[in-house]
Amino acid sequence: MKLQYQLTIAFTTLLVVIMTVTGIMIYSQMLQMLIKDEQRQLEDKGELIVNFILSEDLNNTTSVQRFLQLLEKYNLQVFAYDEGSERVVFSSIPNMETIEGWIQEHDLNSRTQPLWQGEDDNYVVSIIPFLSPVSTQQLVLLTPLDDLQEVQKSLVNQLLLIFLIGISVAVLLSHYLTTKLVTPLTKLRHQLKKIEKRKFEEMEEVKATGEIKEVEQSVVEMANELNSFIQSQHHFFQNASHELKTPLMTIQGYAEGIRDGIFEGEEASRGLQVMVAEIKRLKKIINEIILLAKLDSEADIYHPEKVNSKIFMEQIMERAIPIANEKDIRVVQDQEEEVLVLFDAEKMLQAVMNIVTNAIRHADSKVEVAAFVKNKQFHIQITDDGEGIDDELIKKLFHRFVKGESGETGLGLAIARAIVERSGGSVKAENAAKGGAKFTITFSEFEKNND
Ligand SMILES: Nc1ncnc2c1ncn2[C@@H]1O[C@H](COP(=O)(O)OP(=O)(O)OP(=O)(O)O)[C@@H](O)[C@H]1O
Ligand SMILES: [Mg+2]
Repeated sequence: MKLQYQLTIAFTTLLVVIMTVTGIMIYSQMLQMLIKDEQRQLEDKGELIVNFILSEDLNNTTSVQRFLQLLEKYNLQVFAYDEGSERVVFSSIPNMETIEGWIQEHDLNSRTQPLWQGEDDNYVVSIIPFLSPVSTQQLVLLTPLDDLQEVQKSLVNQLLLIFLIGISVAVLLSHYLTTKLVTPLTKLRHQLKKIEKRKFEEMEEVKATGEIKEVEQSVVEMANELNSFIQSQHHFFQNASHELKTPLMTIQGYAEGIRDGIFEGEEASRGLQVMVAEIKRLKKIINEIILLAKLDSEADIYHPEKVNSKIFMEQIMERAIPIANEKDIRVVQDQEEEVLVLFDAEKMLQAVMNIVTNAIRHADSKVEVAAFVKNKQFHIQITDDGEGIDDELIKKLFHRFVKGESGETGLGLAIARAIVERSGGSVKAENAAKGGAKFTITFSEFEKNND
């Protein structure tokens, strides 16, 4: 069932329940007031009747007639009951069965009497005990509660009217409120449909407030995230195929040239050298792509352990120095504090070495690798004294296949970032104040080494 209908039914039911309870309460209050009022009047009339009985001789026919006229004038019924002989000694009500039924049903000695049910009417009752010379008699006065039906009728009419107005108001109000509530949800559903069809550029803002607005913002964020993921996948495949195609074409060119005898002697052996180099490059690219894919999806290729920062720095230096020596670059380390950090040492070594080899490639004379604790975070910083990184390039430096003019595959930094993030750290690149590039890897969680 539509949310709008559900809400309308809920609203209306609630209103009907409240109004029914209120109606019943008002009705019983009014009934009580009516009975009390009738009883008060009945007691007054009872006094007059008793006075009449005491002052007149009821054995006299004219007196009896006057007594009956009085009863008619006051709209009263009367009977007298003798407790001693358990007999009705006098009655203005012709039907004796009804009277006997009443006597059995009700306690005549009680001061307060409920409504007595007659054949057609309900009666308000007042009982006046009076002592005859022989025994105790109860004079029972009854007056029909005529107004009751009228009150009931008008109350039911009024309540019906209020019910009708109430239900109309409830339906209108709930329609207004639910429309206000449901419309943004419907619009949001349309937006989700667009996401499903990947029409991200057609997405529009949904006007809403409160929780629905929050959901809408999450949907927009999700769409942006999904869009950039799809775009990056797209670029990745484009770049990957391009990167793979170039060396393959070179290899094909030389292979065909040698086969067809175009390259001979010196040229052929140079071609073979290029082919081997290109095959190596292809292997490297494919290995890097496979590693990136694994880092993205596979859980069991990553084995974190507590790594001592001093030992880790030594491992970096061991690997960096030979590469640097080849290029006449000096690598220095700066280790302030020894800490324990949780990561996969082998993978992190690869991440740092990707940054360090870049630095060595771009440095003029020196690369500095520093490990230190600052602002309760552990940092590994690699700084070189080269030309620094182009401002345009720096924004997307960690994206796959992004490389500068002197770059190689453009995957080294993407791999480094994937490994660092998988270890719960972050990495950023900037240009150092003195020129040259500065890469900082940061971990928020580490332990001091107390050994
Ligand atoms: N220290 C640095 N100084 C100046 N530019 C740098 C530095 N490090 C990286 N870059 C730039 O960033 C680009 C991307 O680096 P990345 O390591 O991702 O790829 P790559 O070195 O070109 O190829 P590979 O996948 O073999 O590492 C490089 O091509 C280079 O232009
Ligand atoms: Mg690199």
